[in-house]
Amino acid sequence: MALHVFVILLATLQIHSQCGVVVGVTETTCADAVPMRLRREVISITDFGGVGDGRTLNTWPFRKAVYRIQHLRRRGGTLLYVPPGIWLTGSFNLTSHMTLFLARGAVIKATQDTWNWPLMDPLPSYGRGRELPGGRYTSLIHGNGISDVIITGENGTIDGQGEVWWNMWRQRTLHYTRPNLLEFMNSRDIIISNIVFRDSPFWNIHPVYCSNVVIKYVTILAPYDSPNTDGIDPDSSSNVCIEDAYISTGDDLVAVKSGWDEYGIAFGRPSWSVTVRRLTGSSPFSGIAIGSEASGGVDGVLVEDVHLFNTGIGIHIKTNIGRGGYIRNVTFANVVMHNVRKGIRIAGDVGDHPDEYFNRYAVPMVDGVTIRNVWGQNVQQPGSIEGIKNAPFTRICLSNVKLWGAGGWQSSAPWRCAEVSGAAFGVRPWPCAQLATTLTGGICSGAV
Ligand SMILES: *[C@@H]1O[C@H](CO)[C@@H](O)[C@H](O)[C@H]1NC(C)=O
Ligand SMILES: *[C@@H]1O[C@H](CO)[C@@H](O)[C@H](O)[C@H]1NC(C)=O
Ligand SMILES: *[C@@H]1O[C@H](CO)[C@@H](O)[C@H](O)[C@H]1NC(C)=O
Repeated sequence: MALHVFVILLATLQIHSQCGVVVGVTETTCADAVPMRLRREVISITDFGGVGDGRTLNTWPFRKAVYRIQHLRRRGGTLLYVPPGIWLTGSFNLTSHMTLFLARGAVIKATQDTWNWPLMDPLPSYGRGRELPGGRYTSLIHGNGISDVIITGENGTIDGQGEVWWNMWRQRTLHYTRPNLLEFMNSRDIIISNIVFRDSPFWNIHPVYCSNVVIKYVTILAPYDSPNTDGIDPDSSSNVCIEDAYISTGDDLVAVKSGWDEYGIAFGRPSWSVTVRRLTGSSPFSGIAIGSEASGGVDGVLVEDVHLFNTGIGIHIKTNIGRGGYIRNVTFANVVMHNVRKGIRIAGDVGDHPDEYFNRYAVPMVDGVTIRNVWGQNVQQPGSIEGIKNAPFTRICLSNVKLWGAGGWQSSAPWRCAEVSGAAFGVRPWPCAQLATTLTGGICSGAV
């Protein structure tokens, strides 16, 4: 690649990192959770025979470039530059100490020939594919057991061309579970920033068994009716920080998970320390979800400064008998909703089972959920909190939650509550008798 491009790249990265420092002083950010590294070496996909004409298949160029980075390891790592153009490709792996850099106008486009998508084993915490028994297709971009990986650039696009997969799902002709667009397994120190994700076959970004993952300034788009195109699903992962995202897809925008029923319980890997901040978006299903697959446990989730519009359920904590595990220490703060079907739902009867062997005595625990400063307009139903018989949801604390129907707050449907304890302050319309109106016994300590 020409030297001047190299210099411009370094200059761009330096400006970004300087801005990061400036911004970090004035607002809360996860920018420092994983350091943004400059790479000492830059190579281009064109060095490996890549052709960005939208027709040539670039699977081998991508695989060769990654092989080269992995086997001729340079101190400080290597940046793989993807120039403007349309780079059609099948599935490829990433490796450690690399940056995948998409220039402005660069599109990594998934081939629609499904045989270019290799199969892989199901995740141990799911026991089978999420959609169908057996294996699953490998994600378009995949990383397993790697660290120090950055996917960034100038808002180039990773396009899954998911329509063929959505149609197979609609026509029930799939044999295995559809692929994610980007998946990291058993990996750490990952940054995904300034990238547009479009039309994923299935979930868009899936970090599973990972730690130290930063996802910021991403845009994730898929049609409103595209099946299971979740935005970001942190799964059995810790120290995940998502901020400044715009997500508009056909399923949950963010869903924190940790495995499925007896497989998730046996694997026992929780998700913990997950932050979601400054997210805007719309979904026919959930805005921000926890569950329903949370069998390894979910502990310590903070969601703040979120704007949801044209959405099914704004805040959704969902679990079921058979899931086991726990969901605890969860805070939602400063959430604004426009035109949503239901504002808040915490429910113990959501989601299907992997098979008939799930344990009917594996009852999940939901404890310590704080929801404060929520404001919604044109909310058809404000909310429901329905725990599990003999396993009520505890320390559920609502404060300053105002959810108006189309004609003001008197016009919205009533809340529904069952098997729940906790407290409510300044909630309109009033939620339910099960929630106390005074702070006694520290039920909402730290909540208000
Ligand atoms: C990608 O990595 C997986 C391990 O996660 C491996 O089984 C597969 O062969 C790799 N594919 C390529 C093309 O290197
Ligand atoms: C990329 O898009 C984000 C918004 O999603 C924006 O904040 C950022 O400035 C853009 N970056 C570049 C390099 O264009
Ligand atoms: C609750 O979770 C937050 C992160 O969201 C963490 O900072 C805090 O220490 C946790 N509190 C307890 C008591 O575990």
